[in-house]
Amino acid sequence: MRSYIRMRRYAIVAMVVGVVAGVSVITVAEQSQIEKPGGNSKCYVCHPAMKTEELTTVHLEMDVTCDQCHGESTEHMHDEMLMTKPDLLFGRSQVRKMCSSPTCHKPAGERQVYGRQDHKDPDAVDAFLEQWTGRMRPNGRNITHDSICTDCHGTHNITKPLNTAAEDEQSQWITLFNGRDLKGWNPADDASWTVKSGRLSGTGSSADDKDRSLWTETVYEDYLLAMTFRATWPIHAGIWTRGESSPRVEIFESGQAVTGSVLVPGKGLALANLREDLEDRESWNTISIKVQGDRVQVWLNGEEIGIVRAVGPAQGKIGLYISKKGDSASSELTVREMLIQPLDKAE
Ligand code: HEC
Ligand code: HEC
Ligand code: HEC
Repeated sequence: MRSYIRMRRYAIVAMVVGVVAGVSVITVAEQSQIEKPGGNSKCYVCHPAMKTEELTTVHLEMDVTCDQCHGESTEHMHDEMLMTKPDLLFGRSQVRKMCSSPTCHKPAGERQVYGRQDHKDPDAVDAFLEQWTGRMRPNGRNITHDSICTDCHGTHNITKPLNTAAEDEQSQWITLFNGRDLKGWNPADDASWTVKSGRLSGTGSSADDKDRSLWTETVYEDYLLAMTFRATWPIHAGIWTRGESSPRVEIFESGQAVTGSVLVPGKGLALANLREDLEDRESWNTISIKVQGDRVQVWLNGEEIGIVRAVGPAQGKIGLYISKKGDSASSELTVREMLIQPLDKAE
């Protein structure tokens, strides 16, 4: 399971090794011969996430490839040290202008940049703003009235690997669940939470309809958590990050938002994951959470969902939550592995 959070870093390490051995270079060269010139697959070799990313796919449908925006970037692709940047890069302040070029998204009238008015459906942009202003999108960007195209459109960024997790094998991962019993957890006698065949299981069925949480005995401040779970649907479960008044990372489906969203008690959903495709409802999933200071950062199956900043307790117990209400009554959350790595306060 640890492979999930390190997947990306391993890919890059493998790539570097490959390049050193001459393998990756050959692959890239072969690919560009098979591909029609200017196709995207030579870039997907190292940027696989871009394959399904909205900004690239929407443009690719119109034959606008990576090259056309970033240049051919031959040196970037073949740089063994991975130090050479692509030919064309765009900082925040350049994006709007770059997209608004006359052959692309030409603004009407005298205006220089494509704006709300130029959208086919300006009301949809307003509605979007109303829904998202002040909140973080799955691409990690905050939406404001000053947002640039790529804040609202796509997840066109490099998802940073969990840096601490990537460090090494001998990193200080501690298992929170021993595979045998509820040692380390409280209250161990709650019938909602049991250990069955080496797995920690929480069920939604019980005599009363109270929500139930299973708490760690230990109090944590800053940490990385990685949990591998599966669920029977529908379900409403989650992970309290530092006690019952702290942000809770959700395992659920509610309207548009799905697993990996973050609920801030009293405030509602502070981070909404809209990417249903990240979760495998038929099988195991790994959710990773980095809690540091007032930030909660979430990954689902290796993809970053986003960061929330929320004032809350500076320390607390970690809790597994399961709702007993309505549809969730017959649901079950099964946890295969749960690892934690306390983080130093300063980073
Ligand atoms: C051999 C592997 C490899 C190939 C092929 C490759 N890239 Fe990259 N690219 C990287 C790495 C590694 C990074 C740095 C990633 C990071 O910072 O996490 C990167 C970063 C980038 C960046 C961001 C640079 C920055 O400083 O913000 C862009 C843009 C980019 N690549 C575009 C492309 C395009 C377009 C192609 C295809 C023409 C391409 N890449 C092909 C490995 C590759
Ligand atoms: C505040 C968020 C926001 C910003 C900023 C934004 N868009 Fe959009 N855009 C939307 C929404 C919402 C839609 C309609 C629904 C959809 O397609 O996702 C849309 C639709 C579009 C469409 C589809 C056709 C159309 O015109 O409606 C294009 C093309 C587009 N945007 C281009 C751009 C470009 C280029 C920029 C930057 C110069 C930009 N957008 C900035 C929110 C935004
Ligand atoms: C329509 C133009 C366009 C296309 C097509 C396009 N990009 Fe980009 N790319 C951009 C812009 C603009 C940015 C800067 C976005 C931002 O920071 O908001 C960017 C940024 C990036 C980054 C840096 C993200 C980061 O987090 O620093 C990478 C990597 C990247 N592109 C790779 C690719 C790859 C690979 C492809 C093809 C599979 C591709 N792009 C296709 C316009 C494009």
